[in-house]
Amino acid sequence: MKTTHPIGVFDSGYGGLTVFKSIAALLPQYDFIYLGDNARAPYGNRSFDTVHQYTLQCMEWFFDMGCPLVIVACNTASAKALRTIQQHDLPRIAPDKRVLGVIRPTAEVIGSYTRTNAVGVLGTKGTITSGSYDIEINKLFPEVTVYSHACPMWVPLVEYGEYNSRGADYFIQKYLDELLNKAPNIDTILLACTHYPLLLDKIEKYLPQDITIVTQGNIVANSLSDYLHRHTEIDAMLTQNGGKRFFTTDDTADFNQHATTFFGEPIQSEFVHL
Ligand code: DGL
Repeated sequence: MKTTHPIGVFDSGYGGLTVFKSIAALLPQYDFIYLGDNARAPYGNRSFDTVHQYTLQCMEWFFDMGCPLVIVACNTASAKALRTIQQHDLPRIAPDKRVLGVIRPTAEVIGSYTRTNAVGVLGTKGTITSGSYDIEINKLFPEVTVYSHACPMWVPLVEYGEYNSRGADYFIQKYLDELLNKAPNIDTILLACTHYPLLLDKIEKYLPQDITIVTQGNIVANSLSDYLHRHTEIDAMLTQNGGKRFFTTDDTADFNQHATTFFGEPIQSEFVHL
């Protein structure tokens, strides 16, 4: 079998596919492998230590699979594990590898969407309580006030295939109302969880039309493309045969069914035991 050095794309489950879809559309020439840690998802309510331990274990798997670069396409893992992995783990276990997240590239552009300088951020409990978005956005756009709100039921609705159910409507309306009650002048809402675009139709249904909803797929894809232009030493390590492989830590038949719907093309996943 030909040796490949793919770009790794990681999420706790299906959500990262919304980012991977945009990355693969913009950079189709590269080889990719996707890993969904479905067996241990959701990560959103887990402790810092647990999210760090799971994410690091997945990064080590990507490195063993030959990936020089991994995109953590999960806000919770980016918020709770990325800094420790970049600053403490990589220098020790894999100094020549790179791991990038989704929070910084999103914070870099979010200020350009708002006219009222009131931005809503929706994410998992882990992402919201970490305060990562408030900190990153305010570093770059001090004039913006960030109103954050956790939506703990939204990832389970996606992971358990309930995103089209009436139960989903209830929890979508509930969290959106709670956010808008904090500040009626919010004109931009960031879906700071890669699972949430799968609920987009219902989210749009319960929001006033003049509110801009920002999803992360294209933002992260553009940022990766820019990174590869700036870091030619990393780019040179990556193989470019246009290959895609999908791995899950849980049932492959379930993964194939959901992932095919979310990704928009037939997927045959492979099982990995971590
Ligand atoms: N897609 C992950 C995120 O962006 C979901 C986290 C979870 O597993 O709870 O935060």
